[in-house]
Amino acid sequence: MNKRLFVQTYGCQMNVYDSNKIFELLNNSHKYQATNNEKEADLLIMNTCSIREKAQEKVFSELGRWRKLKEKNKNIIIGVGGCVAAQEAEHIKTRAPFVDVVFGPQTIHHLPQMITQIYKNEIPKPNVEFKPIEKFDNLPLPGKTGPSAFVSIMEGCSKFCSFCIVPYTRGQEVSRSFDDIILEVHELVKLGAKEIHLLGQNVNGYNVNMSGTDTNVNLALLIRYLSEINGVERIRFTTSHPAEFDHSLIDAYRDIKKLPNYLHLPVQSGSNRILELMKRGYTHETYRDIISKLRKARPGISISSDFIIGYPGETEEEFMETYNLIKDLNIDYSFSFIYSKRPGTPASLIEDNVTIEEKKRRLSRIQGLINLQAHAISESMIGTEQTILVTGTSKKSDQQLTGKTENNRSLNFDGTSELIGQMVKVKVLSASLNSLQGEII
Ligand code: SAH
Ligand code: SF4
Ligand code: F3S
Repeated sequence: MNKRLFVQTYGCQMNVYDSNKIFELLNNSHKYQATNNEKEADLLIMNTCSIREKAQEKVFSELGRWRKLKEKNKNIIIGVGGCVAAQEAEHIKTRAPFVDVVFGPQTIHHLPQMITQIYKNEIPKPNVEFKPIEKFDNLPLPGKTGPSAFVSIMEGCSKFCSFCIVPYTRGQEVSRSFDDIILEVHELVKLGAKEIHLLGQNVNGYNVNMSGTDTNVNLALLIRYLSEINGVERIRFTTSHPAEFDHSLIDAYRDIKKLPNYLHLPVQSGSNRILELMKRGYTHETYRDIISKLRKARPGISISSDFIIGYPGETEEEFMETYNLIKDLNIDYSFSFIYSKRPGTPASLIEDNVTIEEKKRRLSRIQGLINLQAHAISESMIGTEQTILVTGTSKKSDQQLTGKTENNRSLNFDGTSELIGQMVKVKVLSASLNSLQGEII
């Protein structure tokens, strides 16, 4: 019988993409079959995240549970990859000696060979090197896909924002070759994907030369090429950075209807002093200017963002600047977090004089405002026609189908399963806190 593989994924969409590739790699090399039940797995892999303290703590408590599974069956293989592994390769081996394989975000392609070593009773050395090009060259083409597919277009980040661990766990920014991306997208479309979701920590830093030519390809041009591919109906991207959001992307929003009326553009703070301390490389005026130009190019575009609340030294006035930015720009559903000290980052050395109670109060104020605004946007959609890509059945009922609106809301409606994977028009009938209800037109 084929061996079974369980992968637990934490963190961002880059990790989700990598986990899918891990399945494909190990299916090709050792015929591992995916399972959703960790108790029946022969190989357990944890793809970890260290963006905030809590994410990191979760890794070791979950590993404790896996140790118990291994005590019952010593043949189980346990692997740890992702960003915690990249930062703490040796530490993992000491703290959790029952872990057999340690790999990083850019060495997932070594997993097959590491598993073969274990089969031979050898102990594979932890490998968390930064090898983005080697990784891209060794990833298998997709074997299957859902209606919406992630495609990684770059690895790493060279921005070194003062609070952030990512440049240390995923290395410097490297763009994937244009040909590679086009090939992967063609394969995904053949397999039925209609939405292509481009991934990278800083996708608008994408920059390559088209092979054999002098043509320089940035994100906007890449999107233009992808939008010409028959079968690609919608193109999303995560995450772009305000410092490199130039006019070519704004023009892309004006011209390319396959870009949804939605943009996630993390600002982090509305205070120029805090933005400078964070080393973000833009002011709140620049951010507001980008949004205003985008809204001219795309009336009604919905903007979501990321916010860090309670950065060391943030005053009440500085917090209110963030609050006002959210209000002025009518920011839609967003991610907001209390600042979390990350070892090894420059911000971790600054004295933090904001109390945790104060941070929680500020967080709940902006989350309240964001929810209010997002709900008002949802209500304003009642009665409108939305084009959605049907991705499956709704969480609540098998009789209902679901898909995302352009502005990223789940829209549920009655329908039969042959619509899954199709773009359909749905009229919005009602809005609740987290989703919309509608009927097919
Ligand atoms: N590259 C993206 C962000 C990737 S990390 C960008 O620059 O916008 C995702 C989000 O995690 C960040 O936008 C930030 O809001 C949050 N984050 C990162 N480091 C953090 C920290 N130390 N404490 C709290 N939140 C953090
Ligand atoms: Fe982290 Fe800044 Fe890079 Fe985003 S741009 S991943 S916040 S260092
Ligand atoms: Fe987490 Fe690493 Fe992504 S730290 S957010 S998994 S890049």
